Amino acid sequence: MNDKKKRRILFVDDEPLVLKGLQRTLRKMRQEWDTTFVESGREALNILGKRPIDVIVTDLQMPEMDGGRLLIEVKKQHPHVVRIILSGQLNQEMTLKSVRLAHQSLSKPCDAKVLKHTLAKLFALRDFLSDESIKSIISQIESLPSMPSIYTEIVAEMQSDDPAIKKVAEIISQDLSMTAKILQMVNSAFFGLFRKINSPEQAVMMLGLDTIKALVLSVKIFSEFNQKSFSWFNIDALFNHSLAVSMYAKTIIKNENLDQGLINNSMMAGLLHDLGKLILATNFEKSYRQVLDEAQSSDRNLLDMEYEAFGTSHAEIGAYLMGLWRLEYSIIEAIAFHHLPARSMTQNIGLLTAVHVANTLEHEAQAPCAGETELQYDTEYLDKLEITGRIPQWRQVCRELTERNG
Ligand SMILES: [Fe+2]
Ligand SMILES: [Fe+2]
Repeated sequence: MNDKKKRRILFVDDEPLVLKGLQRTLRKMRQEWDTTFVESGREALNILGKRPIDVIVTDLQMPEMDGGRLLIEVKKQHPHVVRIILSGQLNQEMTLKSVRLAHQSLSKPCDAKVLKHTLAKLFALRDFLSDESIKSIISQIESLPSMPSIYTEIVAEMQSDDPAIKKVAEIISQDLSMTAKILQMVNSAFFGLFRKINSPEQAVMMLGLDTIKALVLSVKIFSEFNQKSFSWFNIDALFNHSLAVSMYAKTIIKNENLDQGLINNSMMAGLLHDLGKLILATNFEKSYRQVLDEAQSSDRNLLDMEYEAFGTSHAEIGAYLMGLWRLEYSIIEAIAFHHLPARSMTQNIGLLTAVHVANTLEHEAQAPCAGETELQYDTEYLDKLEITGRIPQWRQVCRELTERNG
Protein backbone atom coordinates (compact mmCIF):
# COMPACT_ATOMS: atom_id res chain seq x y z
CA MET A 1 0.00 0.00 0.00
CA ASN A 2 1.32 3.39 -0.93
CA ASP A 3 -0.03 5.86 1.59
CA LYS A 4 2.34 8.63 0.72
CA LYS A 5 1.17 8.87 -2.83
CA LYS A 6 -1.44 11.52 -3.45
CA ARG A 7 -4.81 10.21 -4.59
CA ARG A 8 -5.85 11.70 -7.91
CA ILE A 9 -9.52 12.59 -7.94
CA LEU A 10 -11.55 13.96 -10.82
CA PHE A 11 -14.82 15.79 -10.07
CA VAL A 12 -17.43 16.24 -12.79
CA ASP A 13 -20.46 18.53 -12.44
CA ASP A 14 -22.17 20.82 -14.95
CA GLU A 15 -22.91 23.40 -12.25
CA PRO A 16 -19.85 25.64 -11.77
CA LEU A 17 -21.19 26.65 -8.35
CA VAL A 18 -21.23 23.04 -7.13
CA LEU A 19 -17.65 22.60 -8.30
CA LYS A 20 -16.61 25.83 -6.57
CA GLY A 21 -18.27 24.64 -3.35
CA LEU A 22 -16.48 21.29 -3.55
CA GLN A 23 -13.20 23.02 -4.26
CA ARG A 24 -13.66 25.16 -1.18
CA THR A 25 -14.63 22.33 1.18
CA LEU A 26 -11.87 20.08 -0.08
CA ARG A 27 -9.10 22.63 0.20
CA LYS A 28 -8.02 21.13 3.51
CA MET A 29 -7.39 17.81 1.76
CA ARG A 30 -4.79 19.15 -0.63
CA GLN A 31 -1.91 17.42 1.16
CA GLU A 32 -3.48 14.06 0.40
CA TRP A 33 -5.52 14.63 -2.72
CA ASP A 34 -4.68 15.92 -6.13
CA THR A 35 -8.06 17.22 -7.32
CA THR A 36 -9.27 18.23 -10.79
CA PHE A 37 -12.68 19.79 -11.54
CA VAL A 38 -14.41 19.68 -14.93
CA GLU A 39 -17.87 20.67 -16.15
CA SER A 40 -18.73 17.91 -18.62
CA GLY A 41 -18.40 14.21 -19.31
CA ARG A 42 -16.47 14.91 -22.47
CA GLU A 43 -13.83 16.93 -20.60
CA ALA A 44 -13.62 14.17 -17.99
CA LEU A 45 -12.94 11.49 -20.63
CA ASN A 46 -10.37 13.75 -22.18
CA ILE A 47 -8.48 14.05 -18.86
CA LEU A 48 -8.76 10.32 -18.21
CA GLY A 49 -7.18 9.65 -21.59
CA LYS A 50 -4.24 11.90 -20.81
CA ARG A 51 -3.21 11.16 -17.25
CA PRO A 52 -3.73 8.63 -14.47
CA ILE A 53 -6.74 9.19 -12.22
CA ASP A 54 -7.65 7.07 -9.19
CA VAL A 55 -11.25 8.15 -8.62
CA ILE A 56 -13.97 9.85 -10.59
CA VAL A 57 -16.78 11.58 -8.67
CA THR A 58 -19.59 12.60 -10.99
CA ASP A 59 -23.02 14.18 -10.99
CA LEU A 60 -25.73 12.14 -12.73
CA GLN A 61 -27.90 14.74 -14.42
CA MET A 62 -25.82 16.69 -16.89
CA PRO A 63 -26.60 17.96 -20.40
CA GLU A 64 -25.02 16.28 -23.43
CA MET A 65 -23.38 13.31 -21.76
CA ASP A 66 -25.06 12.44 -18.47
CA GLY A 67 -23.27 10.81 -15.53
CA GLY A 68 -24.63 7.37 -16.42
CA ARG A 69 -23.21 7.46 -19.94
CA LEU A 70 -19.95 8.86 -18.64
CA LEU A 71 -19.58 6.03 -16.12
CA ILE A 72 -20.35 3.40 -18.76
CA GLU A 73 -17.42 4.77 -20.77
CA VAL A 74 -15.15 4.97 -17.72
CA LYS A 75 -16.02 1.38 -16.79
CA LYS A 76 -15.16 0.29 -20.33
CA GLN A 77 -12.08 2.39 -21.05
CA HIS A 78 -10.59 2.81 -17.57
CA PRO A 79 -11.85 -0.10 -15.44
CA HIS A 80 -9.37 0.56 -12.63
CA VAL A 81 -10.75 4.00 -11.84
CA VAL A 82 -13.02 3.98 -8.78
CA ARG A 83 -16.44 5.37 -9.73
CA ILE A 84 -18.53 7.47 -7.34
CA ILE A 85 -21.82 9.21 -8.01
CA LEU A 86 -22.45 12.47 -6.20
CA SER A 87 -25.96 13.50 -6.99
CA GLY A 88 -29.09 15.29 -5.82
CA GLN A 89 -32.24 13.28 -5.10
CA LEU A 90 -32.07 9.88 -6.77
CA ASN A 91 -35.28 8.32 -8.00
CA GLN A 92 -35.70 4.55 -8.01
CA GLU A 93 -34.55 4.12 -11.60
CA MET A 94 -31.48 6.25 -10.96
CA THR A 95 -30.66 4.35 -7.77
CA LEU A 96 -30.74 1.07 -9.68
CA LYS A 97 -28.59 2.51 -12.40
CA SER A 98 -26.09 3.89 -9.92
CA VAL A 99 -25.75 0.52 -8.19
CA ARG A 100 -24.73 -0.97 -11.52
CA LEU A 101 -22.37 1.77 -12.58
CA ALA A 102 -20.74 3.14 -9.47
CA HIS A 103 -18.85 1.67 -6.55
CA GLN A 104 -20.62 4.08 -4.26
CA SER A 105 -23.30 6.78 -4.41
CA LEU A 106 -23.38 9.88 -2.26
CA SER A 107 -25.98 12.59 -2.09
CA LYS A 108 -25.44 16.32 -2.35
CA PRO A 109 -24.50 18.31 -0.42
CA CYS A 110 -21.67 16.13 0.77
CA ASP A 111 -19.17 17.33 3.32
CA ALA A 112 -15.47 16.66 3.15
CA LYS A 113 -15.61 14.24 6.06
CA VAL A 114 -18.11 11.89 4.39
CA LEU A 115 -16.29 12.03 1.07
CA LYS A 116 -12.95 11.45 2.76
CA HIS A 117 -14.31 8.47 4.68
CA THR A 118 -15.92 6.96 1.57
CA LEU A 119 -12.71 7.27 -0.39
CA ALA A 120 -10.59 5.90 2.47
CA LYS A 121 -12.83 2.79 2.59
CA LEU A 122 -12.69 2.24 -1.15
CA PHE A 123 -8.92 2.67 -1.24
CA ALA A 124 -8.42 0.32 1.71
CA LEU A 125 -10.32 -2.43 -0.10
CA ARG A 126 -8.61 -1.77 -3.41
CA ASP A 127 -5.15 -1.82 -1.85
CA PHE A 128 -6.02 -4.94 0.14
CA LEU A 129 -7.10 -6.78 -2.98
CA SER A 130 -4.33 -5.58 -5.24
CA ASP A 131 -1.65 -7.17 -3.10
CA GLU A 132 0.92 -9.06 -5.14
CA SER A 133 0.37 -12.34 -3.23
CA ILE A 134 -3.28 -12.48 -4.29
CA LYS A 135 -2.36 -11.83 -7.89
CA SER A 136 0.23 -14.57 -7.76
CA ILE A 137 -2.23 -17.08 -6.24
CA ILE A 138 -4.96 -16.12 -8.70
CA SER A 139 -2.53 -16.51 -11.61
CA GLN A 140 -1.85 -20.09 -10.54
CA ILE A 141 -5.53 -20.97 -10.61
CA GLU A 142 -6.35 -22.65 -13.87
CA SER A 143 -9.91 -21.55 -14.14
CA LEU A 144 -11.77 -19.32 -11.79
CA PRO A 145 -15.46 -20.17 -11.57
CA SER A 146 -17.46 -18.06 -13.96
CA MET A 147 -20.65 -16.34 -12.93
CA PRO A 148 -23.48 -18.90 -13.31
CA SER A 149 -25.83 -18.02 -16.16
CA ILE A 150 -28.95 -18.76 -14.09
CA TYR A 151 -27.84 -15.96 -11.75
CA THR A 152 -27.28 -13.46 -14.56
CA GLU A 153 -30.71 -14.31 -15.95
CA ILE A 154 -32.35 -13.62 -12.58
CA VAL A 155 -30.45 -10.35 -12.13
CA ALA A 156 -31.45 -9.26 -15.65
CA GLU A 157 -35.10 -9.95 -14.82
CA MET A 158 -34.80 -8.06 -11.52
CA GLN A 159 -33.30 -5.08 -13.30
CA SER A 160 -35.88 -5.04 -16.08
CA ASP A 161 -38.51 -2.30 -16.16
CA ASP A 162 -41.18 -4.62 -14.91
CA PRO A 163 -39.62 -7.44 -12.86
CA ALA A 164 -41.99 -10.37 -12.35
CA ILE A 165 -41.81 -12.98 -9.60
CA LYS A 166 -43.34 -15.46 -12.03
CA LYS A 167 -40.49 -15.03 -14.50
CA VAL A 168 -37.81 -15.45 -11.82
CA ALA A 169 -39.61 -18.60 -10.65
CA GLU A 170 -39.66 -19.89 -14.24
CA ILE A 171 -35.91 -19.35 -14.60
CA ILE A 172 -35.34 -21.39 -11.41
CA SER A 173 -37.80 -24.10 -12.49
CA GLN A 174 -35.79 -24.81 -15.62
CA ASP A 175 -33.00 -26.17 -13.44
CA LEU A 176 -34.44 -29.22 -11.68
CA SER A 177 -31.68 -29.84 -9.19
CA MET A 178 -31.63 -26.14 -8.31
CA THR A 179 -35.40 -26.21 -7.74
CA ALA A 180 -35.10 -29.25 -5.49
CA LYS A 181 -32.30 -27.71 -3.46
CA ILE A 182 -34.06 -24.35 -3.06
CA LEU A 183 -37.28 -26.02 -1.92
CA GLN A 184 -35.38 -28.25 0.47
CA MET A 185 -33.65 -25.21 1.95
CA VAL A 186 -36.65 -22.93 2.29
CA ASN A 187 -38.55 -25.75 3.99
CA SER A 188 -35.70 -26.40 6.39
CA ALA A 189 -35.73 -25.11 9.93
CA PHE A 190 -33.34 -22.30 8.99
CA PHE A 191 -36.02 -20.17 7.42
CA GLY A 192 -38.63 -20.90 10.07
CA LEU A 193 -41.54 -20.57 7.64
CA PHE A 194 -44.84 -21.77 8.99
CA ARG A 195 -46.20 -23.31 5.85
CA LYS A 196 -44.73 -25.76 3.42
CA ILE A 197 -43.40 -24.22 0.23
CA ASN A 198 -44.15 -26.33 -2.83
CA SER A 199 -42.97 -24.27 -5.78
CA PRO A 200 -40.23 -21.81 -6.73
CA GLU A 201 -42.92 -19.16 -7.17
CA GLN A 202 -44.06 -19.54 -3.56
CA ALA A 203 -40.43 -19.52 -2.45
CA VAL A 204 -39.77 -16.23 -4.26
CA MET A 205 -42.94 -14.73 -2.79
CA MET A 206 -42.13 -15.77 0.76
CA LEU A 207 -38.43 -14.90 0.78
CA GLY A 208 -38.19 -12.01 -1.66
CA LEU A 209 -36.11 -11.60 -4.78
CA ASP A 210 -32.88 -10.61 -3.04
CA THR A 211 -32.79 -13.66 -0.81
CA ILE A 212 -33.65 -15.96 -3.70
CA LYS A 213 -30.97 -14.37 -5.85
CA ALA A 214 -28.35 -15.02 -3.14
CA LEU A 215 -29.55 -18.60 -2.60
CA VAL A 216 -29.45 -19.39 -6.32
CA LEU A 217 -25.92 -18.05 -6.68
CA SER A 218 -24.52 -19.86 -3.68
CA VAL A 219 -26.33 -23.16 -4.38
CA LYS A 220 -24.93 -23.12 -7.91
CA ILE A 221 -21.38 -22.32 -6.83
CA PHE A 222 -21.34 -24.87 -4.02
CA SER A 223 -22.82 -27.58 -6.25
CA GLU A 224 -20.17 -26.96 -8.90
CA PHE A 225 -17.47 -27.42 -6.29
CA ASN A 226 -19.27 -30.45 -4.90
CA GLN A 227 -18.86 -32.27 -8.20
CA LYS A 228 -15.14 -32.25 -7.58
CA SER A 229 -15.93 -33.87 -4.21
CA PHE A 230 -13.19 -34.26 -1.66
CA SER A 231 -13.49 -36.62 1.23
CA TRP A 232 -11.24 -34.39 3.34
CA PHE A 233 -13.25 -31.21 2.84
CA ASN A 234 -16.84 -31.14 4.04
CA ILE A 235 -18.58 -28.87 1.55
CA ASP A 236 -22.04 -29.45 3.05
CA ALA A 237 -20.81 -28.39 6.49
CA LEU A 238 -19.35 -25.23 4.98
CA PHE A 239 -22.63 -24.51 3.21
CA ASN A 240 -24.64 -24.94 6.40
CA HIS A 241 -22.19 -22.74 8.27
CA SER A 242 -22.49 -20.08 5.54
CA LEU A 243 -26.29 -20.23 5.60
CA ALA A 244 -26.29 -19.82 9.38
CA VAL A 245 -23.87 -16.87 9.12
CA SER A 246 -26.17 -15.21 6.58
CA MET A 247 -29.20 -15.63 8.84
CA TYR A 248 -27.29 -14.31 11.87
CA ALA A 249 -25.95 -11.35 9.89
CA LYS A 250 -29.48 -10.52 8.76
CA THR A 251 -30.75 -10.80 12.33
CA ILE A 252 -28.03 -8.45 13.62
CA ILE A 253 -28.72 -5.88 10.91
CA LYS A 254 -32.45 -6.02 11.66
CA ASN A 255 -31.74 -5.70 15.38
CA GLU A 256 -29.80 -2.51 14.70
CA ASN A 257 -32.55 -1.15 12.41
CA LEU A 258 -30.07 -0.65 9.59
CA ASP A 259 -30.83 0.07 5.97
CA GLN A 260 -33.03 -2.37 4.00
CA GLY A 261 -30.30 -2.58 1.33
CA LEU A 262 -27.95 -4.08 3.92
CA ILE A 263 -30.56 -6.67 4.89
CA ASN A 264 -30.82 -7.62 1.22
CA ASN A 265 -27.05 -7.96 0.92
CA SER A 266 -26.62 -9.90 4.15
CA MET A 267 -27.74 -13.19 2.56
CA MET A 268 -25.24 -12.87 -0.24
CA ALA A 269 -22.33 -11.83 1.98
CA GLY A 270 -23.05 -14.53 4.56
CA LEU A 271 -23.50 -17.30 2.02
CA LEU A 272 -20.31 -16.44 0.16
CA HIS A 273 -18.01 -15.22 2.93
CA ASP A 274 -15.91 -18.40 2.95
CA LEU A 275 -15.98 -19.03 -0.80
CA GLY A 276 -12.20 -18.54 -0.90
CA LYS A 277 -11.85 -21.82 1.03
CA LEU A 278 -13.51 -23.70 -1.82
CA ILE A 279 -11.18 -22.06 -4.31
CA LEU A 280 -8.12 -22.95 -2.24
CA ALA A 281 -9.35 -26.51 -1.62
CA THR A 282 -9.96 -27.20 -5.31
CA ASN A 283 -6.87 -25.54 -6.69
CA PHE A 284 -4.23 -26.19 -4.04
CA GLU A 285 -5.48 -29.51 -2.76
CA LYS A 286 -2.34 -30.83 -1.16
CA SER A 287 -1.11 -27.67 0.50
CA TYR A 288 -4.54 -26.49 1.65
CA ARG A 289 -5.34 -29.87 3.13
CA GLN A 290 -2.14 -29.63 5.10
CA VAL A 291 -3.02 -26.13 6.31
CA LEU A 292 -6.50 -27.23 7.46
CA ASP A 293 -5.17 -30.35 9.19
CA GLU A 294 -2.55 -28.38 11.02
CA ALA A 295 -4.98 -25.61 11.99
CA GLN A 296 -7.34 -28.20 13.40
CA SER A 297 -4.75 -30.14 15.34
CA SER A 298 -2.89 -27.15 16.72
CA ASP A 299 -3.93 -23.96 18.48
CA ARG A 300 -2.88 -21.91 15.55
CA ASN A 301 -5.18 -19.56 13.76
CA LEU A 302 -6.27 -20.65 10.28
CA LEU A 303 -5.80 -17.20 8.79
CA ASP A 304 -2.17 -16.96 9.97
CA MET A 305 -1.48 -20.35 8.48
CA GLU A 306 -3.06 -19.41 5.17
CA TYR A 307 -0.93 -16.27 5.03
CA GLU A 308 2.12 -18.38 5.76
CA ALA A 309 1.36 -20.92 3.04
CA PHE A 310 -0.11 -18.68 0.35
CA GLY A 311 0.76 -15.10 1.28
CA THR A 312 -2.97 -14.38 1.32
CA SER A 313 -6.15 -15.83 2.83
CA HIS A 314 -9.52 -17.29 1.84
CA ALA A 315 -11.10 -13.93 2.68
CA GLU A 316 -9.18 -11.96 0.05
CA ILE A 317 -9.48 -14.70 -2.55
CA GLY A 318 -13.28 -14.89 -2.19
CA ALA A 319 -13.57 -11.10 -2.26
CA TYR A 320 -11.34 -10.91 -5.32
CA LEU A 321 -13.64 -13.25 -7.23
CA MET A 322 -16.71 -11.29 -6.12
CA GLY A 323 -14.95 -8.17 -7.39
CA LEU A 324 -14.47 -9.81 -10.78
CA TRP A 325 -18.17 -10.64 -10.76
CA ARG A 326 -18.92 -7.02 -9.89
CA LEU A 327 -21.02 -7.73 -6.86
CA GLU A 328 -21.89 -4.74 -4.72
CA TYR A 329 -19.09 -2.99 -2.89
CA SER A 330 -20.47 -3.64 0.62
CA ILE A 331 -20.59 -7.40 -0.08
CA ILE A 332 -17.01 -7.48 -1.36
CA GLU A 333 -15.87 -5.47 1.65
CA ALA A 334 -17.67 -7.77 4.11
CA ILE A 335 -16.08 -10.86 2.52
CA ALA A 336 -12.59 -9.35 2.28
CA PHE A 337 -12.42 -8.27 5.90
CA HIS A 338 -14.68 -10.78 7.66
CA HIS A 339 -11.83 -11.93 9.91
CA LEU A 340 -9.99 -8.63 10.23
CA PRO A 341 -12.55 -5.83 9.98
CA ALA A 342 -10.20 -3.27 11.56
CA ARG A 343 -8.28 -3.19 8.30
CA SER A 344 -11.31 -1.94 6.41
CA MET A 345 -11.25 1.71 7.56
CA THR A 346 -15.03 1.47 7.94
CA GLN A 347 -16.25 3.52 10.86
CA ASN A 348 -19.89 2.60 11.15
CA ILE A 349 -21.95 -0.49 11.89
CA GLY A 350 -22.84 -2.19 8.64
CA LEU A 351 -22.70 -5.38 6.65
CA LEU A 352 -19.06 -6.02 7.55
CA THR A 353 -19.80 -5.71 11.27
CA ALA A 354 -22.73 -8.11 10.94
CA VAL A 355 -20.79 -10.73 8.95
CA HIS A 356 -17.76 -10.55 11.26
CA VAL A 357 -19.87 -10.96 14.39
CA ALA A 358 -22.21 -13.53 12.81
CA ASN A 359 -19.25 -15.66 11.70
CA THR A 360 -17.66 -15.53 15.13
CA LEU A 361 -20.97 -16.29 16.87
CA GLU A 362 -21.61 -19.21 14.53
CA HIS A 363 -18.23 -20.70 15.35
CA GLU A 364 -18.91 -20.25 19.03
CA ALA A 365 -22.11 -22.24 18.67
CA GLN A 366 -20.91 -24.98 16.34
CA ALA A 367 -18.32 -27.66 16.05
CA PRO A 368 -15.19 -26.53 14.19
CA CYS A 369 -15.76 -26.18 10.46
CA ALA A 370 -13.12 -26.22 7.74
CA GLY A 371 -10.22 -25.24 9.93
CA GLU A 372 -11.83 -22.30 11.68
CA THR A 373 -11.54 -23.65 15.18
CA GLU A 374 -11.07 -20.78 17.52
CA LEU A 375 -12.35 -17.58 16.10
CA GLN A 376 -11.84 -14.32 17.81
CA TYR A 377 -13.56 -10.99 17.65
CA ASP A 378 -11.49 -8.18 16.27
CA THR A 379 -11.49 -6.19 19.50
CA GLU A 380 -9.63 -3.25 17.99
CA TYR A 381 -12.47 -2.85 15.49
CA LEU A 382 -15.31 -3.42 17.96
CA ASP A 383 -13.77 -0.99 20.45
CA LYS A 384 -13.25 1.66 17.80
CA LEU A 385 -16.89 1.45 16.79
CA GLU A 386 -17.85 1.28 20.49
CA ILE A 387 -19.95 -1.83 19.96
CA THR A 388 -18.15 -4.40 22.12
CA GLY A 389 -21.01 -4.10 24.61
CA ARG A 390 -23.55 -5.04 21.90
CA ILE A 391 -22.19 -8.59 21.48
CA PRO A 392 -24.22 -10.23 24.31
CA GLN A 393 -27.43 -8.76 22.86
CA TRP A 394 -26.55 -9.98 19.34
CA ARG A 395 -25.62 -13.40 20.70
CA GLN A 396 -28.99 -13.52 22.38
CA VAL A 397 -31.05 -12.63 19.27
CA CYS A 398 -29.11 -15.12 17.15
CA ARG A 399 -29.60 -17.82 19.78
CA GLU A 400 -33.30 -17.09 19.88
CA LEU A 401 -33.46 -17.43 16.10
CA THR A 402 -31.79 -20.85 16.24
CA GLU A 403 -34.04 -22.01 19.05
CA ARG A 404 -37.16 -20.77 17.31
CA ASN A 405 -36.27 -22.43 14.03
CA GLY A 406 -34.43 -25.43 15.33
FE1 LIG B 1 -13.71 -17.29 7.09
FE1 LIG C 1 -16.79 -18.66 8.25
